[in-house]
Amino acid sequence: MLAGKHILLIVGGGIAAFKSLDLVRRLREKGVQVTPVLTRAGAEFVTPLSLSALSATKIYQDLFDLTDEAEMGHIELSRAADLIVVAPATADLMAKMAGGHADDLASTLLLATDKGVLIAPSMNVRMWEHASTQRNLATLQGDGVLVVGPNEGDMACGEYGSGRMAEVPEIIAAIDAALGDGPLKGRHILVTSGPTHEPIDPVRYIANRSSGAQGTAIAKALAAMGADVTFVTGPADVPPPAGVNVVRIETAQEMLRAVEAAPPAEVAIFAAAVADWHVVNAGAQKIKKDGDTLPALELAENPDILATIAQKQEGRPPLVIGFAAETNDVVAHATAKRARKGCDWIVANDVSPETGIMGGQENAVTLITDDGAETWPRKSKDAVAQKLAQRIAEAVS
Ligand code: CTP
Repeated sequence: MLAGKHILLIVGGGIAAFKSLDLVRRLREKGVQVTPVLTRAGAEFVTPLSLSALSATKIYQDLFDLTDEAEMGHIELSRAADLIVVAPATADLMAKMAGGHADDLASTLLLATDKGVLIAPSMNVRMWEHASTQRNLATLQGDGVLVVGPNEGDMACGEYGSGRMAEVPEIIAAIDAALGDGPLKGRHILVTSGPTHEPIDPVRYIANRSSGAQGTAIAKALAAMGADVTFVTGPADVPPPAGVNVVRIETAQEMLRAVEAAPPAEVAIFAAAVADWHVVNAGAQKIKKDGDTLPALELAENPDILATIAQKQEGRPPLVIGFAAETNDVVAHATAKRARKGCDWIVANDVSPETGIMGGQENAVTLITDDGAETWPRKSKDAVAQKLAQRIAEAVS
């Protein structure tokens, strides 16, 4: 329920600012109080008068407007709302946010706030794809800033591509999710993440290059949509997200036990890079070099956690999602893996070293479901997580 909520809406300088007028109107229809802040560039696209008329309130434009300071200081203004929404969020505003600038009212409010922030980026496709914008986006997402859009399509500048601001209903759905009344509210979702460590002796182990970044991003995106998340994680580089129930394990066998002990889940996502083998003859003490013989490690296969859960006769989560880490023939291998393991969806990715995906910041995935294979453009792991969480929300609603 959005009624009674208060949103501080920062309108940046982009052609999509006209959609912000409609956003104000739709939010007001839902009983939301909207306080607009118009940047200098934003005022080139929409007038203060139209924003003020639609929001039925005073709008704020200048940092050093003493009358405003007497009424409400910028610190107070930044915290009075339940959520700050930046729409359109231009490349420049995103850069200011990522860099922590405070040289006008909008950037100062964004730096001073203790509330959640949702941005709806809007810019030319080249600007969106530019390395600096993508770097700023990753920084902002890492800081917990929520992002809706941008969408792909024809642009006002005549080009085609990603950069169009999300549509008003999409922004309203994202506001709904950000305010905790998310589409996954009350749903229990299990996520496995990170590598597992399989001991060779008390000081050595077999592991893999998984950083846990993708699983962590998924848990974070689901929690942001209101889900109750049980996060079963191996020893990952990335810390677990806030607001989830963390269960730490080391080995594949411990991961299976933790997954089986978790409360019944409506959705289970297996993002962990589970070691395929464990050492049967692991040393109870540190194995010493004796100068002559090399230690022979005897390996045995680990339980397949995904397959075990996906093939359960009773208590199977209604939606089971696996990952497929492949280095060649990605879609063919992943399609076969989906059938073999019995999961509903599989998220396939190419983990060849040259992709830089394993242990990196970005992911390029293909989602394989009953409807076939759908390849998503390469994005940050947070953006992939948000898209997957959105799909899950649609599937369980
Ligand atoms: N998985 C699992 N338990 C295992 C091995 C894998 O739960 N013992 C899960 C992973 O979390 C992932 C999926 O199975 O969701 C596929 O993992 P992947 O490493 O791609 O496949 P493997 O089953 O290990 O097959 P292979 O190494 O032969 O490609």
